[in-house]
Amino acid sequence: MKFFLDTADLDEIRTGLDWGMVDGITTNPSLIAQQGKSYLPTVREIARLVPGPVSGEVLATDPEGMLDEAHRLADLADNVVVKLPLSPVGLKIAAQLADEDIETNVTLCFSAAQALLAAKAGATYISPFVGRLDDVGQSGMELIEQIVTVYENYDYDTEVLVASVRHPMHVVEAAILGADVATVPFKVLAQLYKHPLTDAGLDRFLADWQKTGRSFDD
Ligand code: E4P
Repeated sequence: MKFFLDTADLDEIRTGLDWGMVDGITTNPSLIAQQGKSYLPTVREIARLVPGPVSGEVLATDPEGMLDEAHRLADLADNVVVKLPLSPVGLKIAAQLADEDIETNVTLCFSAAQALLAAKAGATYISPFVGRLDDVGQSGMELIEQIVTVYENYDYDTEVLVASVRHPMHVVEAAILGADVATVPFKVLAQLYKHPLTDAGLDRFLADWQKTGRSFDD
């Protein structure tokens, strides 16, 4: 399973890369706005920092504007993936970009029907938002299960990128279901390492050795 970091914060990205667990990055307009920086330069800077795929989203909603922004994003670097909203126009542009060998990430997916359309359009990634579905009383993981099944039924190449992840169990459940990617906030990546028995176990090992009064070499 690939882990992407869902952030535009360069410090978080540097730390995640240092830990060796970051295969790519997803950004969105809200995440870039939080950084108080310019839009395109931020995507460019992240793409320079990260060897893997970096999703940058178009801001335009009209076909010409979307296509123009998609090309400008793709021109930033080879590893930039163009993020498009799930709409008739978004999927039309996704199909056009697929013909041009430009990778796309179709975002704001909330149903298996929408995911099916994105695969038919030739999207590289589909991003179902599990946390936002849970928030409105629907099961995000049930959606992941449906999409994984539908894509397997028809051998679609579109990768299932689980988005809007809120806690480690989202990641574990997505992995059990065979999702290709989880994009996680930095906080969740850090939480994945943690278990109270690991901390307690290490404390006890070190305390037991310290009681001997000996050192590492001794
Ligand atoms: C995905 O690409 C989105 O950036 C993200 O996962 C949205 O998550 P949120 O619901 O926490 O805003």
